[in-house]
Amino acid sequence: MNITVEIGDFRQAETDAVLIPILEDDLHNELLLAADAALEGRIQAFLNLGDFKGKPKTTSVLYTNGAITAPRIILVGLGIYAELNAEKVRQVSGHTARQARDMGLKSITVPIPPETQEDWAQAAVEASLLSLYEFKQHKTQKDDKEDEDKSLESMTLLVGSEVEKSSLERIVERGETIANGTILARDLSNQPGNHLTPTQLAEKAEEVAETAGLNCTVFDKPTLEEKGFRTLLAVAQGSVEEPKFIILEYTPEGEEHDTVALVGKGITFDTGGISLKSGSGMHEMKHDMSGAAAVLGAMQVIGHLKPAVRVIGIIATTENMPGSTAIKPGDVVTSYGGKTIEILNTDAEGRLILADALGWTAQYEPKGVIDLATLTGAVITCLGHIAAGAMGTDDALMEKVKKAADKTHERVWELPLWDDYDEGVKSKVADVQNIGDGTAGTLAGAAFLKKFAEGYPWVHLDIAGTAWGMKNSTYIPEGASGYGVRLLVQLVEDW
Ligand code: BES
Ligand code: MN
Ligand code: ZN
Repeated sequence: MNITVEIGDFRQAETDAVLIPILEDDLHNELLLAADAALEGRIQAFLNLGDFKGKPKTTSVLYTNGAITAPRIILVGLGIYAELNAEKVRQVSGHTARQARDMGLKSITVPIPPETQEDWAQAAVEASLLSLYEFKQHKTQKDDKEDEDKSLESMTLLVGSEVEKSSLERIVERGETIANGTILARDLSNQPGNHLTPTQLAEKAEEVAETAGLNCTVFDKPTLEEKGFRTLLAVAQGSVEEPKFIILEYTPEGEEHDTVALVGKGITFDTGGISLKSGSGMHEMKHDMSGAAAVLGAMQVIGHLKPAVRVIGIIATTENMPGSTAIKPGDVVTSYGGKTIEILNTDAEGRLILADALGWTAQYEPKGVIDLATLTGAVITCLGHIAAGAMGTDDALMEKVKKAADKTHERVWELPLWDDYDEGVKSKVADVQNIGDGTAGTLAGAAFLKKFAEGYPWVHLDIAGTAWGMKNSTYIPEGASGYGVRLLVQLVEDW
C-alpha cells in the first residue's frame, strides 16, 4: 500500500472512502461536525440512534449519495480519549485497513487533525502497513475466487498546511521504513527451511547491507574453522548445508559513538539433531531463525534512519540436523572464547551457536548487547505468546529494553537471572553443560548464555513465544510476527 500526504479538503477527495475517526466521548469534534454538515445531519442522526458508539475496532459505512466526492464515509471508532494510546491506535488502524481491503476498496483517505501526536501518526502508518501483510509467495493458485484483486492500494492522509504536510511526510517515511524492516523479518521467518538455508540467509544479509548502506562480512566454513567458532561448527556438522557467521556494521558519521550489538539466533531449521524432536509441529522449526530475522530487519531500518550510535548486527546461522556426522549427546566442544561445553542434548543448539557469537561480540567493546533467540519452549509455558522473556546482567540496559518494548508494545517480562541458576548448568566433565537441571528451562538457557556474555552489559530476549503464534492483534498475523524489529530500532534511536 502506498501512503501519501496531501493538502486538501475531505469533501473533494477522489477516493473510495473517507475515514472519520470518532472518539466515544467526543461525538462533536470539528471533523465530525464538518462531515455531518456535508451529509445534512445524517451522521448525527445515525449516532443519536446509537447505531455507532465509537468503540475501538468498530466501524460503520455511510453512503454519501453524491453529498461529497467520495461515495463512502467510514466512521472509525477510537474509544474513550483518556484510554487512547499508541497501541490502541495500532489496533484500530490495523482493523480498519484490513476491513477496507476486505470490502474491496482500492483507496482510502484519512483527514489528519493538526493536533495529532507524532507517535500516534507513526503508529497508525506502521500498523496499517503491517496489518495487510500476507505470505503468499509459494501459492500458485488463489484460495478463494472472492479474494481475487482485493488489495488496498493507497491511503491518502489529508492535512491543512504545507508545514503539517512536510512534518507528516517525515513521519510516514519513518513508519514505512520500520514497517518494511518488520516485513523483511516476517518474510525471512516464514520462509521454509528449503528456501532459506544459512547460505541464502547470508546472501540476503549482503543484499540488505548493500541497499541500507551497511558494512557486511560473512565468515564461511573454512574461516570459521580458522577462527575457532567450534560450537557453531559443531551444530552444523550434522548437515550438508554450510554454517555462516554474519556481521553487519552501521557506523554513524562524526566523532566517537557508543557501540550497541544485536545478536540473533539463526537456526534455519531445528530438527533437534540426534536428540530428535517429535514429529508434531516440527515444521514450525522453520521459524527458528526469527532472532536472526529480527536483527537483519532492524539493521535494515537502522541503515536508513541513521541514528547516532554505532550498531553491530551479528547472526550465527546453521541447520540443526541429525546426519551421521552430527554431534552426539555427551560430546564436548570448545567455544570461541575457550570455555568447554558438554552437550547433553543436541536440541539445545541455539545456546551453543550463541556461545560463539556472544564470545566474538566482546571485541567491539559494546555498551550494550541484546540477543534475540527462539531459545526455549519453556518460555511459552511461562509467558504464552504474549511477551518475550527478558534476562540480563545489567539493570540500566534492562530498563532501556523495557522502555523500548513498552513504546512499541513488543512486550518483555523480566525473569530473575539469579546466580542460583548457575548450579543447573554445571557439568561433571566440562566447564558447562547445555540443558540445566530440568527446572526453569528458560533461566537455564540464560544462565548458560551468561557464561559467554562476559565483559559487557547484556540482555537476552527469549522470543520462542512471540516470534510466531501471536493471536488477537489486528496488525500481527499468526505466522511470523516480526517481533523485535521495532523494539530494537526504538532502543537504538533512544540510546
Ligand atoms: N528452537 C527450540 C525452542 C523452541 C521450542 C522454540 C518450541 C519455539 C517453540 C530450541 O532449540 C530447543 O529445542 N530448546 C529445547 C531445549 C531443551 C532441550 C533444554 C526445548 O525448549 O525443549
Ligand atoms: Mn532445538
Ligand atoms: Zn532451536
